Amino acid sequence: MDKAAKIWEGEKVQAFTFTEPQFPRRREDVLDAAMVALREKPWARLEGVSETEDALKSFHGGGLPWFISSGTASLMALLLGHEIGPGDEVITTPYTWGATISAILAVGAIPVFADIQRENALLDPATVEANISPKTKAVLCVHLFGHPCNMTRLREITRKHGLLLFEDGSQAHGAKWQDRVVGLEGDGGAFSCMGMKLLAGTEGGYALFTKPEPLEKASLYGKHPRGMSPDRVTVLQEQGLLDALQLGWRPCVVSAALVKANLPYLNEEIAARRRNAQRLRENLKGQKAVCLPGEEPGATGCYHLLSLVFDPAEGAPPRKVIHERLQKSGLGGFIYIPTPMHRLKRLNPHEYEGPRVFWHETLRQAGMDYRETHCPAAEWRSAHSLEFSFNWTEEAPEAMDQMAEILLESVKS
Ligand SMILES: Cc1ncc(COP(=O)(O)O)c(C=O)c1O
Repeated sequence: MDKAAKIWEGEKVQAFTFTEPQFPRRREDVLDAAMVALREKPWARLEGVSETEDALKSFHGGGLPWFISSGTASLMALLLGHEIGPGDEVITTPYTWGATISAILAVGAIPVFADIQRENALLDPATVEANISPKTKAVLCVHLFGHPCNMTRLREITRKHGLLLFEDGSQAHGAKWQDRVVGLEGDGGAFSCMGMKLLAGTEGGYALFTKPEPLEKASLYGKHPRGMSPDRVTVLQEQGLLDALQLGWRPCVVSAALVKANLPYLNEEIAARRRNAQRLRENLKGQKAVCLPGEEPGATGCYHLLSLVFDPAEGAPPRKVIHERLQKSGLGGFIYIPTPMHRLKRLNPHEYEGPRVFWHETLRQAGMDYRETHCPAAEWRSAHSLEFSFNWTEEAPEAMDQMAEILLESVKS
């Protein structure tokens, strides 16, 4: 144990005495909606769940939502619907939940990693532009931890180079870029609605298309003819394209009911999360060893997770020491992305030993070697941040004050 940890050991540790509200909230009307789906409605909806999709459409102020089995499936639907596949490069972030990347690999395309902005963990538009090649088809940005990427800059770049722009909004339901709910800033968005997300079902997700043609193309991989218009079914039949070669994206009806019932509460919960985050930020103001970064102009985040940066250059002890202290206090914390994606073993075929990985062939054929990828900001962040659950969906100023006190104490050397 090093010196800093010993000091803390000898000190009285302040305990975090508050408990986060249960999440998702078990509201009676939401639970009733699930029971109605089970008691009164069909358990399989081959035609799709249009009532949930209609609610999502009005929440987003437009678009063509398609509610399916998961966020990962929704990412794949977006990519396949835009005919992205083998040989195509998709520029994205190495600092994300792995499913962003596995969806790209699953359709046979190649992830190319741009770096993040160190201060807010979001895709850095300048490094996106530097990674564009003749094979680039799309940029897939991730509104990580609930914070919207700079969509104005990303849109400028993708327009300039004739690329598609997709948003992974799985952690950012209801976050806004310039007062518009994220998901429709580019060519489409994908959202997970698994039970830990801001807009929770049990499992599920939705792809948000901006145009009908890509949705129709994606439908070939996962929509039952009952969910298509009779005219379209006729055309597809005539073309010989109506078959059962599908990828298993059928929606869960209970999840769809939960998502629809939870939607009216989302904005008020986000407002409480934001007020709590602001209180915490004010408490941490004026020192730099632990930092909750401010929001970019134009961004209204929804604080899915709290990501705090502990900077040794500003006097913070090693993260391991801080983490131990926070564990002792009961505040907890975890390292959400311990390894940036380009450093993962299964993305690096050289010297790989383990079960066969199907994308290794794709990467080899494309001459892609992630040992040559340099994303210093993502590496730095993986080494210096700690993440915390932040389901403070009710205003909790005292909890935020105590949290700040413990955090400030934890960075003392
Ligand atoms: C950023 C991000 N992308 C994609 C996914 C995948 O969603 P799902 O687990 O519903 O497939 C998740 C969450 O799990 C996520 O956090």
